[in-house]
Formats: sequence, structure tokens, C-alpha cells
Amino acid sequence: MAMQAIRTVAEMTAIRQQITSSVGFVPTMGFLHQGHLALVKRARSENSIVVVSIFVNPAQFGLGEDLRTYPRDPQRDLALLEEEGTDIVFMPASEEMYPQGFNSWVEVGEVTQRLEEASRPGHFKGVATVVAKLFNIVAPTRAYFGQKDAQQAIVIEKMVADLNMNLGIVVVPTVRESDGLAMSSRNIYLNAEERQAATVLFKSLNLARQLWLAGEKSAHEIREEMISLIQGEPLAEIDYVSIADAQTLEELKEIDRGALVSLAVKIGKPRLIDNIILE
Ligand code: PAJ
Repeated sequence: MAMQAIRTVAEMTAIRQQITSSVGFVPTMGFLHQGHLALVKRARSENSIVVVSIFVNPAQFGLGEDLRTYPRDPQRDLALLEEEGTDIVFMPASEEMYPQGFNSWVEVGEVTQRLEEASRPGHFKGVATVVAKLFNIVAPTRAYFGQKDAQQAIVIEKMVADLNMNLGIVVVPTVRESDGLAMSSRNIYLNAEERQAATVLFKSLNLARQLWLAGEKSAHEIREEMISLIQGEPLAEIDYVSIADAQTLEELKEIDRGALVSLAVKIGKPRLIDNIILE
């Protein structure tokens, strides 16, 4: 069966009602790369029907952020998704998701108040709300999220548990460029020099892993080493470097349980994030 591109909620809901087998769902904002496609491949291997959404969600962008200029290439996205054996692409217009008078929001507590929140206030309210809406529209058996956005995956898992949403959440490992840079739609904002400088994020995560493997348990010591490595890169400006409990995102003093090492660094204009888990 040929891939279908669906643009309205009514049509998506109607098609979903015809499906009786398992549905794997991959929400995205488009401008797809191999990171997104790893989620699609995983969904393809675990479900009879694969639905991918492409929607640049205005509600999760802050005032100074790149909503207007966020990269888009729907034709290329559709071709890539067809190659991966996607069945349905849901690509609603903004007014379809947020019609006049829209006024309900999903707020997940605690885990949203850490890491990204300081620089992107309200971001996860926008993410949780759109993902809840998409889950209601697509009614997936399983939904796929990338480890690249570790806090986002935790927020979604918490929302699903707290609100008794009836689906499975699958978190897929981060896909990287050959030099370790995590793939991201925003990497195209980097000029050649910044692209080179951006490798410092993964280098600092590797340093953290090495120190931890060598027996270092102090989160403070590891953070200091990471920070001084990043500060050696003149184009890099640190937003945060965190070593936190991998479930609650509480900052750790001692790495005595599963730890999420995560960071946000501005390289020129773009703000890049990355993480690894130590366990
Ligand atoms: P977007 O940034 O397009 O990412 C869509 C999905 O792809 C997310 O689950 C993200 O974690 C995953 N992803 C991105 N880069 C990846 C990489 N290098 N390796 C593995 N997975 C990667 O995240 C969003 O969109 C939005 O917030 C969304 C969930 C769609 C809600 O609007």
C-alpha cells in the first residue's frame, strides 16, 4: 500500500478507526535526519502500521527561539519516510492542532523544572500538550522517542504513567555523526568552524565516562573536568553541565546510581544539547 499523507485531524482519526493491528508512532518536527529515521526503523520492526507526524509545534518554542526559521523540507521528508516503509504521515497545519479558542494544557511536574527549563521556560508544557494531543489522535500501541532529548523522553514517560495513557514508550539510542556530534536538525545552523567546535560536547561526555570508568564517583570533580575541557573551546558558551539521577533528574553529589550526564552549550548562535547515561 502506498504511503498516505494526512493533513487533518478528522481524516487521521477516521483512518485510525479502520486499523485493528499494532500502530507504531514517531512524532517529529520534520527536516529529518538519520536520528529520526532510526526511530522510524525501530517502529517499523515492531509494529504492523507505522505513523510519523511532522509538525513544528509553536507551543514549545520560546519568544526568542527559532520557530519562524526552524528548517523545513516536507518533500524530502516524505521521500525519506517512504523509503523507510512508513504507512501514514500526519502533517497538520498549525490551525488544525491549535484552532481558535484552544485553551487546555498538560503540565508535568518536577522533571520539567530542571535542566532545559531554565533556558526554555514553558518548553515542556508545549511538548507535553502536543504529544498528548498526538497520542489521542493517532492512538498508538507504541511511541518512539530519542535518547538525544533525554529530558523530553523522561517527561513523556512521566505523563504517560501519571495520566494512565494506554501505550508503550520506546527510547532509542542517539545517532551520531562519525566524529561523535549528535545528529540534530539545528546542526545546519553551524558554519564550518562552529561545526568543528561542536565536537567538544561529545568529547566532554566521553571524558566524563572515562573518569567514571577509572573510579571517579564525585559528580563535582567530573563536572569541573568537563567544564574546563569545554572552556578550552573559544566558540563554546556553556549553558549547563549536569550530572543527575537518570530517573528524577535531581542533581547528584555522588554517582551512586544510574546517572544522566547532560549538557547544553551554545556554539555560535545554535544551542546544542547532548547526553550519556552512566550505569
Ligand atoms: P524533533 O526534534 O524533530 O525530534 C523528533 C524525535 O527524534 C525526538 O524523539 C528526538 O529525540 C529524536 N531525535 C532527534 N535527534 C536524534 C538523534 N540524533 N538520535 C536519536 N533520536 C533523535 O523532539 C521533537 O521533535 C519534538 O519535541 C516533538 C517530540 C515532535 C514534539 O513536538
